Amino acid sequence: MEGLKPILERRSCRTYTDQPVPEHIIETLLKAGMFAPSANNAQPWEFLVMQDAEKKEAASNIAPYWSMLKNAPLGILVLADVAGYRGPIKDYFIQDCSASTENILIAAEAMGLGGVWLGLYPREDRIKKIRAIYNIPGHIMPFSVVSLGYPDKPHHPHTTYHAEKVHRDVY
Ligand SMILES: Cc1cc2nc3c(=O)[nH]c(=O)nc-3n(C[C@H](O)[C@H](O)[C@H](O)COP(=O)(O)O)c2cc1C
Repeated sequence: MEGLKPILERRSCRTYTDQPVPEHIIETLLKAGMFAPSANNAQPWEFLVMQDAEKKEAASNIAPYWSMLKNAPLGILVLADVAGYRGPIKDYFIQDCSASTENILIAAEAMGLGGVWLGLYPREDRIKKIRAIYNIPGHIMPFSVVSLGYPDKPHHPHTTYHAEKVHRDVY
C-alpha cells in the first residue's frame, strides 16, 4: 500500500511556499509525464517549463481559476504535437496527454510537492492566450497546465469509496 500513497492521498494543491523546485525534481516530473501510456505508443506530448514570473503572471490571468499560477514557483504546460501524431486515431492525443498530466500530478505528490491540473484543451479562448504568451506554433496543441510547488499546508485525502459507482459483470 505504501507505493499507492501518492495516488490515494493526492489532492489538488493551489497555495505554495516560496521554495523553488530544484532542477532534478523538475526533470523527474517531466520524466513522469513522458513515461505515461499512449495509444500506439505515439507519445505525442511535449512540455514547456513555466518559471518566468512575468509570463506566469500573464498566464494566471487567462482564466478565473488559474490565479494560483502567479505564486506557483513552477508550471508545466503539457503540449501535443498533433500535426506529427504517429497513430491512426489522432483524437487519442487527448487520453495520452491526460495520462501524462496525471502522471506529473502523482509524481509531484510522491516527491512532497503539490499540484493542480488547469484545464486548457479544448477551450479555444485559453488556447489562443497561452499560445500568445509562450509563442507556441500552430502545429502544437496546448493541452493542460500543471501548477506546482511545495504545499503551504497539509491537505486531506479523499476518503469515500463509492460502491454505487461500481458495476460487476453487468451494468
Ligand atoms: C480537466 C480538468 C480541468 C481542471 N481545471 C481546473 C482549473 O482551471 N482550476 C482549478 O483550480 N482546478 C482545476 N481542476 C482541478 C479540479 O478542480 C480538481 O481535480 C477537483 O476539484 C477534485 O479535487 P482533487 O483534485 O483535490 O481531488 C481541473 C481538473 C481537471 C481534471
